[in-house]
Amino acid sequence: MLKDIEKTKKISITINGKVVKCDKGASILQACQQEEIPIPVLCYHEKLKVAGNCRMCLVEVAGCHKLVASCATPATDKMEIFTESPVVKDSQKGNLEFLLINHPLDCPVCDRGGDCDLQDASMDFGLDRGSFWEPKHAVLHKDFGPLIGTAMERCIHCNRCVRFAQDIAGVSEIGVFGRGETLEINTVLGQVVTSELSGNMIDLCPVGALNSKPYGSRARPWELTHYPSIDVTDAVGSHVNLHVKNDEVMRVVPRLKEEINEEWISDKARFSYDGFNIQRLDTPYIRKEGVLYPVSWIDALKTVVKKLTSIAPHEIGVIAGNLMDVETLFLMRQLLDSMGVIHRDCRQEMGFLPMTERGDYLFNTTIQGIEDSDACLLVGTNPRLEASLINVRLKKRSMQGDFSVGLVGPHVDLTYAYEHLSDTAAVLNDILANKHPFSKVLKKAKRPMLILGQGALTSLEGEAIYKTCRAIAQEFGLIQEDWNGFNVLHTAAGRVGGLEVGFVPKDDGYDVANMLKAARAGRLQVIYLLGADEVPLQTLGDAFVIYQGHHGDAGANRADVIFPGAASIEKDALYVNTEGRAQEALRVREPLGEAREDWKIIRGLSEVIGRKLPYNTREEILKDLQKMYPVFSKIGDVFPGECTAMHEPKKISSGFLKPFITNFYMTDVIGRCSPVMASCKQ
Ligand code: SF4
Ligand code: SF4
Ligand code: FES
Repeated sequence: MLKDIEKTKKISITINGKVVKCDKGASILQACQQEEIPIPVLCYHEKLKVAGNCRMCLVEVAGCHKLVASCATPATDKMEIFTESPVVKDSQKGNLEFLLINHPLDCPVCDRGGDCDLQDASMDFGLDRGSFWEPKHAVLHKDFGPLIGTAMERCIHCNRCVRFAQDIAGVSEIGVFGRGETLEINTVLGQVVTSELSGNMIDLCPVGALNSKPYGSRARPWELTHYPSIDVTDAVGSHVNLHVKNDEVMRVVPRLKEEINEEWISDKARFSYDGFNIQRLDTPYIRKEGVLYPVSWIDALKTVVKKLTSIAPHEIGVIAGNLMDVETLFLMRQLLDSMGVIHRDCRQEMGFLPMTERGDYLFNTTIQGIEDSDACLLVGTNPRLEASLINVRLKKRSMQGDFSVGLVGPHVDLTYAYEHLSDTAAVLNDILANKHPFSKVLKKAKRPMLILGQGALTSLEGEAIYKTCRAIAQEFGLIQEDWNGFNVLHTAAGRVGGLEVGFVPKDDGYDVANMLKAARAGRLQVIYLLGADEVPLQTLGDAFVIYQGHHGDAGANRADVIFPGAASIEKDALYVNTEGRAQEALRVREPLGEAREDWKIIRGLSEVIGRKLPYNTREEILKDLQKMYPVFSKIGDVFPGECTAMHEPKKISSGFLKPFITNFYMTDVIGRCSPVMASCKQ
């Protein structure tokens, strides 16, 4: 609050003879940036602590006998600053000359060439020749693991990577070693970097010292077309830019979105793109005598229609998977309604999740809202693996102080301090009954929040845990008029979208667990897997299985008919993130071979089956989606949900909790097919 008031106060300073106003507390650099006055920086980054060690940003201040580092000096009222005086220009030239003494002449072969802060600074502020001819300093090769390639002779010791590792990623895997001429950036004990956010150090490195290993030497920056899109490897919906050359994704980098991912992404979002080209389904298949044969679309559709029309609607079950887009689920639900099929579900995790109100299944606090909270109870979740960018936000809040975190579930390293309350959820009974010290913490907090993870919802006592958490929310004021601290953390990009369009059992229809049981018992004749690969398919008995998806993973392996669909980079598609924010992923290339966008497959199937859906274009679908569900009316914004007034608590008897994600790198088909993700796992 105090900080906000300070920010609104303005001071008056003079930059190069011009009087300007800036926020009290702003640095000289920030004041200059606000006025679009160019000052070269190499070690400064607005999301990192100020280091002030590259000395590129020196400016002259009237009354100071030495130049000052503008990034590390606060502007004060009536200060007179010069950014273009001869002494400043000389210092910039001299500083760059020093930086380049030991820098290799690698630009033509450096991955950073054309995209390099040092190159830009040298061109804009440097000399056109140097006066040092001594041999250059040599640095030994470093192995940072399968994701980060190193060329440490290019390192300018700006420390950005180290500050990121310590303050944002919360790991001490990388540091500064030695002094003076022997100073080096290295990993602790020469081990590889294992942080789930390590790729961000590549973006932060202002030179080509840290590079993306998978991207290495595959393209130059000017050959790449940039497609703004969103990440679908978890339910956070991070904003990304896909850099594409000749229809191939060459690299994935973060796109600034303060409300979600700021300017970071997880390594899974960044590096799993090689999985888009491996084990792809590019033609329809039909299984005959145990072997899958490629067939034409019409043969595949006719076979499926013959099967679907030969049985009763209550003998059909449909399960939607982790990456399925909203448009497809919306059309499929309409088709199933018209056929009278009531067994359908998108909750592949098979956890307890009531559908009464939207707030009952959303991350209501919002990701940015975490920064306003003062206490957090984590139940059955490891946000570091389930939603890395939400964990970054929790760490950020934790570093600001006055933030108590309690964890119920297996003990894990979250990168910030927390109190481990118990391995089992039975402790929630005590918290609710005000018999646990953490009850006091929640009671005292002004804006407490609770994050309920899939590890809790999918446990044997998922329902009791959910209801007790809701009762805790009620008891300790987590839900107030201007604050909703009750949160469900989803882990799949397609999950909330499915819930929004009602892709859940109709009337007395089966959920996923009951569909699997019914298939095993022979009560369901057909199971339609809409990109569902993570359910235990060995329990499907003799059911006829239709698989619609893009990779030859578990679902395709069990299928009797395969409809090849488009991967997320091959279609314009809507996803809703865990906060209830509808966002659009953009197509960067056509679907492979005979594969088609998933909504088009459902539209085609509806026609062959004789129940033609009234959509010929995606725009027509979007129009109806916006008409029927307000969440889609403003793409990109959170559409908040209300929570059901009250859930009666249910006593938790043992509440044993297991980790929900054990292999961070392989949570979906793309990750499982990615050789880079496989090497990370190793
Ligand atoms: Fe050239 Fe920049 Fe690479 Fe150095 S880091 S070799 S200046 S492109
Ligand atoms: Fe800076 Fe890059 Fe060196 Fe790290 S490796 S200190 S980010 S130049
Ligand atoms: Fe100011 Fe480096 S940017 S010292």
